[in-house]
Amino acid sequence: MRVAVAGGTGLTGKRVVGSLIAAGHEPVVLSRARGVDLVSGSGLADALTGVEAVIDVSNVTTSRASVSVAFFEAATRHLLAAGERAGVRHHVVLSIVGCDRVDLGYYEGKRRQEELVRAGSVPWTILRTTQFHEFAGQILDRVPPGPVALVPRMLSQPVAVREVAEALVALVGGEPLGTAPELAGPRPEQLVDQARLLLRARGRRRWVLPVGLPVESARRAAGGALLPTADGPRGTVTFARWLEEQGPDA
Ligand SMILES: NC(=O)c1ccc[n+]([C@@H]2O[C@H](COP(=O)([O-])OP(=O)(O)OC[C@H]3O[C@@H](n4cnc5c(N)ncnc54)[C@H](OP(=O)(O)O)[C@@H]3O)[C@@H](O)[C@H]2O)c1
Repeated sequence: MRVAVAGGTGLTGKRVVGSLIAAGHEPVVLSRARGVDLVSGSGLADALTGVEAVIDVSNVTTSRASVSVAFFEAATRHLLAAGERAGVRHHVVLSIVGCDRVDLGYYEGKRRQEELVRAGSVPWTILRTTQFHEFAGQILDRVPPGPVALVPRMLSQPVAVREVAEALVALVGGEPLGTAPELAGPRPEQLVDQARLLLRARGRRRWVLPVGLPVESARRAAGGALLPTADGPRGTVTFARWLEEQGPDA
């Protein structure tokens, strides 16, 4: 099957492309680097020729609600409209466990993306997953440098991107499910513990200081609102095993 991967050059997208090839599908990458702009829609109609299904793992890196909503709204509208014209039979989108329980700016865009997919006429599956194992490193890279790293208190159940990609490819080959059971990693982890393990693996001496911001969204993230609330598939790769696999590149 010919499957378009929106964001196919990104962290998740590269793994999705690999999993599609391994499963005998033909991936078509949609990204600006490949001449397709999801926000303006340019290049999209041509790229979707002969495509039967779409996996949307596109992304914008921001903590601002306005930027997130603008990106996911435009990209999703263009993908759905072009998909409908091209006869796409299944639109699969990756979203985030708890994005409707924690009021972070970025999550507002993810909620808008989900709403548009649910209201659209292309049959759909939404897979919500927890944070990836890479998330701790993304946070550490964003906090100010120095001997002390201020890391927000947050409880999550991180999952390996490889297992997320495999789940998306398994879903795209089946019937549209609507909201799929949530995918999480094997066990809950405190973000500050992950940050400490990661710094040790990187050979960096920094003191990790947990911070609890006095806002409702931070309290919720610290209190477990990003954990799955129902049974569902669980990845097998723990954060510790993932760190070992990364070696010095962690
Ligand atoms: N990080 C997590 O812990 C986590 C957890 C659960 C779900 N997710 C979801 O996973 C998805 C993928 O995240 P990621 O971290 O893998 O993404 P990423 O590495 O930031 O990659 C983003 C992709 O989107 C493409 N893109 C961005 N703007 C575009 C545009 N205007 N037109 C076309 N393509 C564009 C990029 O390619 P170009 O730059 O070439 O355009 C790239 O391929 C996101 O929807 C995110 O919400 C993430």
